[in-house]
Amino acid sequence: MSIWKRKSLDVLLNEADESEKGLKRTLSSRALVALGIGAIIGAGLFSLTGIAAADHAGPAVTLSFVLAAVGCAFAGLCYAEFASMIPVAGSAYTYSYATMGEFVAWIIGWDLVLEYALGAATVGVSWGSYLNKLLAQFGMSIPPEFSSAPAEGGIINLPAIFIVCVLSMLLIRGTKESAFVNNILVVMKLIVVIIFIVLGWQYINPDFHVPYIPEYVPAHVTETGEKVGEFGGMSGIAAGAGLVFFAFIGFDAVSTAAQEAKNPQKGMPIGILGSLAICTILYVLFSYVMTGLVPYAEFKGDASPAATAFAVTGYTFLQTGLIVAILAGYTSVILVMLMGQSRVFYSMSNDGLLPKFFGDIHKKFRTPWKTNIFFMVFVSIFAGFVPIKDLGHMVSIGTLFAFSLVCLGILIMRKKMPDAPRSFKVPLVPFVPIAGIVVCFYLMYALPGESWLRLLIWMALGVSLYFIYGKKNSKLNN
Ligand code: ALA
Repeated sequence: MSIWKRKSLDVLLNEADESEKGLKRTLSSRALVALGIGAIIGAGLFSLTGIAAADHAGPAVTLSFVLAAVGCAFAGLCYAEFASMIPVAGSAYTYSYATMGEFVAWIIGWDLVLEYALGAATVGVSWGSYLNKLLAQFGMSIPPEFSSAPAEGGIINLPAIFIVCVLSMLLIRGTKESAFVNNILVVMKLIVVIIFIVLGWQYINPDFHVPYIPEYVPAHVTETGEKVGEFGGMSGIAAGAGLVFFAFIGFDAVSTAAQEAKNPQKGMPIGILGSLAICTILYVLFSYVMTGLVPYAEFKGDASPAATAFAVTGYTFLQTGLIVAILAGYTSVILVMLMGQSRVFYSMSNDGLLPKFFGDIHKKFRTPWKTNIFFMVFVSIFAGFVPIKDLGHMVSIGTLFAFSLVCLGILIMRKKMPDAPRSFKVPLVPFVPIAGIVVCFYLMYALPGESWLRLLIWMALGVSLYFIYGKKNSKLNN
């Protein structure tokens, strides 16, 4: 029984035929771009931008966005090739099962929990913070004890738990994100971002942008015992990029729709790279305005900095609409993440790597409801008790790791299966995948040491589970 055993392409494609019968090629390139934007714009922009500016990059957080986008573009191309070759649920987990074998597939599947489950928790925390801003407009509030994590002086973050539970329940009922609802949410999000940029632009105080790249201050522990990460200079920009990288997560969701694209050869790269390009431009402008409205240091620990910054403009009536749109826009991101998580565990359970429990389908709703409930509890614990910054770091490091493995997968696939049909091919191989790996590792390197430690602990736990359970029960191995 080898841990490197690979699932053959034929088996995978057969499984896809069986499980996804009836998928029609209906998605145009424009629909794919909309799908991407729906999954991409969320807490990364509306919450982490301020924190990345305050803690790491200052006004140069705009450059952090550019750096993160470059890494995503390389990885995005690799995702597109895989997606056009292996259009099966499970995404990166499935790709690696075919290229790098079961053990690596397990590692990725386990790692994706960091991206999807903790990603949902992160957006949930940000949702709660914006909810409080909304309530404040009407003179109400949820007391900080019940709306922040213990490390931030609270007891439990109830609004974050609330949204995670509501959306998990929706998922169990099988609410398919219809293209229509998604389009409305995408338009709303774009309007919010554009209003913020256009109206905010007039109130920019140029002094707040000087110096644009603050002087470098190494990581240190303050007199009060607080740990402070690298700030300023190129290192600060990179550390900021590691954090705001979160804002781009979700474009990989486009790749899971490969089977439904009208013309994947053209549609996949346009969908993935197009949504990335649009988001990058908007993010750079948005963060430029945000740091121009309020001195960046004031965003420290603020999970709703867009509201804080927009308050400067004095458009109070718009402020309310802005927050409502942000709250609504987050729901599509959280749903995609929770759904992605359940699909990965579902695939892993079908392969025998996880107990059958995770693959059980509800008789009436036809959804993997037990997995959904399991993750409702799991994600709630993180959303309720961990500060947003720590969550964001964990999601970033986990996802960057998965992205580098996907890039590596392309190199392996080109060697091992050069002739397998793929409707989209990464240009400039091996440059693009290698550059993807290098940029992803650079961003991981720039993240705080604790996130590395947590990643290692999480992975050690995963590896042990594989040898205790997965290897013995793997269908492929038996
Ligand atoms: N990119 C998504 C967000 O920022 C995950 O919320």
